[in-house]
Amino acid sequence: MRRLKERGAIVRPILTEGGAKFVTPLAVGAIAGERVFTDLFDLAEENDVGHIRLARDTDLVLVAPATAYLLAKMANGLADDLASAALLATDRPVLVAPAMNPRMWANAATRRNVERLRQDGVRFVGPNEGTMAERGESGLGRMAEPLEIAAAVEALLAPAGSLKGRRVLITSGPTHEPIDPVRVIANRSSGRQGHAIAAAAARAGAEVVLVSGPVSLPDPEGVTTLHVETAREMLAAVEGALPADIAVFAAAVADWRVAEASAEKVKKGKGGPPALTFVENPDILATIAKRVDNRPQLVIGFAAETTNVIENAREKLTRKGCDLVVANDVSPATGIMGGDRNEVSLVTASGVESWDSLPKEDVAERLIDRLSGMLR
Ligand code: CTP
Repeated sequence: MRRLKERGAIVRPILTEGGAKFVTPLAVGAIAGERVFTDLFDLAEENDVGHIRLARDTDLVLVAPATAYLLAKMANGLADDLASAALLATDRPVLVAPAMNPRMWANAATRRNVERLRQDGVRFVGPNEGTMAERGESGLGRMAEPLEIAAAVEALLAPAGSLKGRRVLITSGPTHEPIDPVRVIANRSSGRQGHAIAAAAARAGAEVVLVSGPVSLPDPEGVTTLHVETAREMLAAVEGALPADIAVFAAAVADWRVAEASAEKVKKGKGGPPALTFVENPDILATIAKRVDNRPQLVIGFAAETTNVIENAREKLTRKGCDLVVANDVSPATGIMGGDRNEVSLVTASGVESWDSLPKEDVAERLIDRLSGMLR
């Protein structure tokens, strides 16, 4: 309640009979700064307030903590007290933060109830892994942290196109793979599109981490920018920045690095030009998209192609396991690489959408808008 009030919310608590065994109505009312509704109040003043009005005159209903019993009642439409009656009567979004013993959470009955509630449109935050109130027990069942719950509330209440309360991770620019202390293998990526996406995500209210290869662009406003040189450094920075709701891989990562970069400058001389041996770099996008834990909800790849653009993008979508691929034709004649404008197609499992040529800033804006819609 405190964390929500700090964010400007008006919190009207309903305290259940079970809840009142842990906290008094007086304490809850003092924290909320609002009248506390309990079953006793409701009986006395049903004409005045009524559970129907209480349930509808709000932007969102949050159940925290939600017990296995309350989830079972919700899943079956039972209403035998004020809280469950309000939940049945509401036409607002409902967010629940379950908290229970790990065995109760894992039980087939709870699984069924949770699945049914999800299908009914109820949203969940947590539970988390952790130690329980019971001595020596640990597992999945601990209530999500107050800040996580506040962020989930903010995300649900955010206006369309907004990424408030969301974490967005973006890679941008080229990577530099050393040959020796003074020479690198590089590519022509300017980082302009990736940086523009980071700036657009920040303007939409997201908490943004940008992992950038060497570029001559300034760090975008309101974005945490991490500077890296090589593909391996980029992967480490990306993994360190998880978790994220959305990850956009706009960097032009070098596919290969020199097997053994020389510690000293390679001199010309008797041997003739050096023969470089290459090894493949880790695929950052595929590594993150295929993670089992902490996989971002949306993983977005880029496909820079010079031939068969859509066909190649489709292949990348499935091979790398992304949710969407932004495909563009980077043939020199298009002037896209390093230029101000971009002409992209969005490729997903369900189809292709091609946009007209737009300034890279506008592509970024529209992409962020689209991604925020997909998150919902
Ligand atoms: N990518 C990555 N790590 C790599 C290589 C690519 O994260 N080591 C990401 C890019 O950021 C981009 C997408 O993968 O989002 C497509 O990269 P691209 O180089 O076009 O694909 P490749 O896998 O290199 O395929 P190909 O060389 O056949 O075009």
